[in-house]
Amino acid sequence: MFSATRVTESDLKAKGRKVIRRDGKQILLLAREGRVFAIANRCPHEGYPLSEGTEGPGCVLTCNWHNWKFDLATGEALVGRDPVRTYGVEIRDGEIFLDLSDPPAQMQRERALKGLEAALLDNDMTRMAREMARLERAGFEAREALVHAIGFLNDRLENGSTHAHGAAANWLALSDAAPTPQTRFTAILEPIAHLAWDTMGAPRFPYADESAEWDAKAYLAAVEGENEAKAVAHIRGAVAVGISYSELMPVLGEAALVHYADFGHSAIYTVNIGELIARLDGRAYEPLALALTRAFVRATREERLPEFRFYDKALAAWNGKGDAPVRAEDFIGLNVDAILKRTLESSGRPAHEVYDALMGAGAWNLLHFDLAFASAADNAIADNVSWLDFTHALTFARAARTICAHRPGLWPRALLQMALFVGRNRKYVRAEEDAARWRVDDRAAFLARETATLYDHGIVEPIIACHRLKVLTALNRELDETPDAPWGDAMCAAVNRFLNIPMKRHHGLRSAAQALDFIAKEG
Ligand code: FES
Repeated sequence: MFSATRVTESDLKAKGRKVIRRDGKQILLLAREGRVFAIANRCPHEGYPLSEGTEGPGCVLTCNWHNWKFDLATGEALVGRDPVRTYGVEIRDGEIFLDLSDPPAQMQRERALKGLEAALLDNDMTRMAREMARLERAGFEAREALVHAIGFLNDRLENGSTHAHGAAANWLALSDAAPTPQTRFTAILEPIAHLAWDTMGAPRFPYADESAEWDAKAYLAAVEGENEAKAVAHIRGAVAVGISYSELMPVLGEAALVHYADFGHSAIYTVNIGELIARLDGRAYEPLALALTRAFVRATREERLPEFRFYDKALAAWNGKGDAPVRAEDFIGLNVDAILKRTLESSGRPAHEVYDALMGAGAWNLLHFDLAFASAADNAIADNVSWLDFTHALTFARAARTICAHRPGLWPRALLQMALFVGRNRKYVRAEEDAARWRVDDRAAFLARETATLYDHGIVEPIIACHRLKVLTALNRELDETPDAPWGDAMCAAVNRFLNIPMKRHHGLRSAAQALDFIAKEG
């Protein structure tokens, strides 16, 4: 629907350009090469006025702030990214009329999602935010952008699910609890930006597109045999006939825990992806299930490493008859073999008792992580340990406990794998650490304060921000469910320490020294 502007074509031609205001919008009219153009005056990049721009040959307008160049006829950015909005123009009796009506909502949605795809491939977070905002302005949920990003980038994840999937549900929970519209929006943007980061520059690694009838045994056998195409076919079959993710949980949980898979990451992803699918009302179920399946297939089976090799024997020896009561102190300081043996001695105790003791020992390790290892530049590659090696003892435990609620028969694996974390990390602790300074007196205030920082964390690497979130979420939920757990105070103090000691994340000197040493011995 066209409306009058009270600007005549001859007047515009005489002046060259004019800005008018309608419905809170600024519209730039330009007369150029015998034609009249109408575009939004705010540059789609950062909003500076295009009326200050420079016209070039071929009906091109340059925004002088960052040199984006727009085709006045189509709005396309010839240099730059987002297109500028154009308006329909008619000349009636010498007066300029404009069509200011918005395009249909679906068209706006499609444009925003197309723009989002470009932003994802560019790893351009500011444009992702703009396209999400455009999606919302058109009347759609911002989290639809997350659904779209998951599907669009899925086959660029070479090893399947990453922490971007693993933390997305926690971000959405944070979004739901956000105090302002901006923080709500931020917490949806974070997992989208994380996905872009994780797939930056990656080619496609397509999934086989066959589908086969869901068969739990065949699925597990395919995962075990590292046959991605077959495993993927079965998971597609499950999704196609409407078998829900929670119905699959006992099987997925087994796939996650059958090995000490990716240092426990498979279990964390399995649980968190289930929550993500629920928070997205089932949308993105198939791509997330495919990515998780790929992650299972490609997961390193850490128990094959020499330091964890006793795990298989311990699992085989688990008879549920060990009746030694156990506390955290019984585990602290034991090496991998010793802690597995000590766990077996309590195999007949209630699972929660052994769990609590291992959580306590994991908390002690985190509270006493020797920072010299975190910053060392002259260590062996095998001793490249970081805070995240310690925090996973908590996030894995939370995931393992959730899986075992679906499948109690997996408790021996869950507990023995928790023991692996504790035994492995005991080499990197310092008993003299001043643990008392990290004591938390008011748990609720601590959790609320630290969680609030996540809306504006200021951390470049998404993996670090998402670990802060995942650790806080796991702690919060564990304390909610078992407020009197014996490890509660120690774990709060440990997480407080993790969150409040600066983390060295760039190891140039370490990498150089290790590479020189390695190549010198390469032969
Ligand atoms: S604001 Fe126009 S190019 Fe940056």
